[in-house]
Amino acid sequence: MSQHDRILILDFGSQVTQLIARRLRESGVYCEIWPYNAAPEARIREFAPKGIILSGGPASVNEGESPRPPAVVFEMGLPVMGICYGQQAMAHHLGGLVEGSDHKEFGRAFVDVTGECAITQGVWAPGAREQVWMSHGDRITKLPPGFRVVASSEGAPFAVIADDARRFYGTMFHPEVVHTPHGAQLLQNFTQGVCGCRGDWTMGAYRAEAVARIRAQVGNGRVICGLSGGVDSSVAAVLIHEAIGDQLTCIYVDHGLMRANESAQVVATFRDRFNIKLVHRDASDLFLGQLSGVTDPEVKRKTIGRLFIEVFEEEQNKVGGADFLAQGTLYPDVIESISATGGPSVTIKSHHNVGGLPAGMRMKLVEPLRDLFKDEVRALGRELGMPEEIVGRHPFPGPGLAIRIPGEVTREKADILRKVDSIFLEEIRAAGLYDAIWQAFAVLLPVRTVGVMGDGRTYDSACALRAVTSTDGMTADVYPFDMSFLTRVSNRIVNEVRGVNRVTYDITSKPPGTIEWE
Ligand code: XMP
Repeated sequence: MSQHDRILILDFGSQVTQLIARRLRESGVYCEIWPYNAAPEARIREFAPKGIILSGGPASVNEGESPRPPAVVFEMGLPVMGICYGQQAMAHHLGGLVEGSDHKEFGRAFVDVTGECAITQGVWAPGAREQVWMSHGDRITKLPPGFRVVASSEGAPFAVIADDARRFYGTMFHPEVVHTPHGAQLLQNFTQGVCGCRGDWTMGAYRAEAVARIRAQVGNGRVICGLSGGVDSSVAAVLIHEAIGDQLTCIYVDHGLMRANESAQVVATFRDRFNIKLVHRDASDLFLGQLSGVTDPEVKRKTIGRLFIEVFEEEQNKVGGADFLAQGTLYPDVIESISATGGPSVTIKSHHNVGGLPAGMRMKLVEPLRDLFKDEVRALGRELGMPEEIVGRHPFPGPGLAIRIPGEVTREKADILRKVDSIFLEEIRAAGLYDAIWQAFAVLLPVRTVGVMGDGRTYDSACALRAVTSTDGMTADVYPFDMSFLTRVSNRIVNEVRGVNRVTYDITSKPPGTIEWE
């Protein structure tokens, strides 16, 4: 556990609970999110938070079975901040009244600041009208004893409430979303002003603590790490190497579906620059052979996942086995699997990183990034001196180009796609757009179209380009390129890549589309 001041966030199932943690961490405050119903008193006391935040959630406190904060939250003498449902649950628990309302508020709203409290101090002046983001049906209609109103909106007369003596605060709106422009400052007032957190949770401190933790866990044991060349496994590998040096071996499996020059780059970075023991296995014949004739996206994914494990186990045996398996698991994966509402209920796609874990695996897991969000992993990578080409990389899926080639995957198609993809990315980099885009790639379509080049007729493949902005990959917007950029890329692709004579741009957001095509 981190040695720094910490805040506990109890999750009641809001879609945006993770953003509370992000805002806090951005201000240097360590925090953890726990489901409201997995927070027994002993565990909270052991965690020793300096304050507690109750998240929003979809329930109504007037429903019999609705989630309730554990009573101890209000009995430890700690500052508490309730957000949206969290505010209602707190008011209800402390003797206030919450009712359904005809005036529901969703999205942007304005509050009139009528007073002052420790949370609004220095951010919102009395008399001001401030923008916030609301998402509620119920609202408080009677305050619990000891509370007073600090700001109100048309739909929520108790938009900000405060009980200064007990240091309990509530907001009807969501300060954690960017649509509440001063939200981060309001949260900082709570964590640093009210709770007294020092805001000293930096990546430098995290690095030193993580190295010590890895040493303590691994001892003299041997660790293997499946390296994909992506940000997460790369940062995990360099961090673990810093902790235990040659006790670490990385295994990089090239399934023949990587992007242009990717394998050479990974080998050069890890073996040559970081001096990390690396096994590079070219398994492209095996993967492409087994994918022959496979057209169903799920069968493709599962085939690749299965082969990954097979090859990985073979290589692991060759290096003499290991006591630990390192993975680049991130905090959002951890939260998803334990959240109050559970993970997604429908399998849209079978994702995999290392390819799932073999049943009956004896190795213990080393997951040094499980406290971190993606942008924090990038910050840690920079702290470790990793090159920007790796740290700032767009995400790349485990199954690689296979899920960007609808229909059967062949080596020829993969070769064509690599060329298209590298032209697109080269132009994006040249235009200085790489960092503004979450992910950009090309898809080779199983469609042939007629074209004319010189004086001749062509009958070749069409491809699609895709570029999206996103914060976490869960939702995504199309990147709005200039038309001149797209036509330049299209001209280059059709002129330089044999086998492609038409280029389209995918303008579907997520949802309803997904980022990858399969
Ligand atoms: P979708 O297509 O589901 O993708 O909107 C969301 C994000 O996840 C990446 N992705 C994967 N990453 N293994 C991975 O490590 C996978 O099997 C996988 N499938 C999709 C995708 O590239 C996007 O960033």
